[in-house]
Amino acid sequence: MNDRVIVALDASSAEHALRLVDRIGPECSFYKVGLELYTAAGSAVVRALRERGHQVFLDLKLHDIPNQVAGATARAAELGVTFLTVHAMGGRDMLAAAAAAAEGSVGLLGVTVLTSLDEKGLGAVFGRGIPDVGREADRLAAMVREAGLAGVVCSAAEAPRLRATMGPGGAIVTPGIRLAGDAVHDQRRVRTAGEAFRDGATNIVVGRPVTGASDPAAAFARIVADAEGGR
Ligand code: C5P
Repeated sequence: MNDRVIVALDASSAEHALRLVDRIGPECSFYKVGLELYTAAGSAVVRALRERGHQVFLDLKLHDIPNQVAGATARAAELGVTFLTVHAMGGRDMLAAAAAAAEGSVGLLGVTVLTSLDEKGLGAVFGRGIPDVGREADRLAAMVREAGLAGVVCSAAEAPRLRATMGPGGAIVTPGIRLAGDAVHDQRRVRTAGEAFRDGATNIVVGRPVTGASDPAAAFARIVADAEGGR
């Protein structure tokens, strides 16, 4: 179970990120590197994590012309990352180019609709009324799978519906995880680790409940114990 719990290293430097890794300890083997850390520390921090034997989820949410996204996917494959995110809204050709470049060695995850966008926000982007963001997310998830990607990133609240759309295969990676009674921070809809796995997640992403804890190793162990209760 430990390798299905991914800790988000939302840090501003490689030093800070690797200090966090030391504090979380050997039980955690899978880390997410997002836009802030990658912008600050680049591929060197990914290599440092790989050299320590960790799996890496590179959360860059790529969205560009197919040639660029394919190139970035190939470079991520060389770095040995396990997961890489791309925006489903980049379109079928972009998704297919990324899937071809991944050659099965990187698990490509599609981001459907950002949870920061509601019906009004998405309607403003598309220039037409959007009655149900969930339906758009479903449609995009189906496109992601048809293009040959490994799966999707979504909130645990959406996981049961997307699992039904995608069928039994495919990765569903869910952030917004808290222990019962934890602070929710800026997350709108949170789930416990156990609930997320029960609802069809294959991996969960946890940030501040672990990285902001006074004892990150103990916090990680509590999340894993909760996750094991949900299997
Ligand atoms: O600290 P927290 O557990 O809220 O962090 C969750 C991680 O998951 C962050 O790295 C954040 O970028 C990511 N995420 C999220 N909510 C989304 C999408 C991604 O929290 N809707």
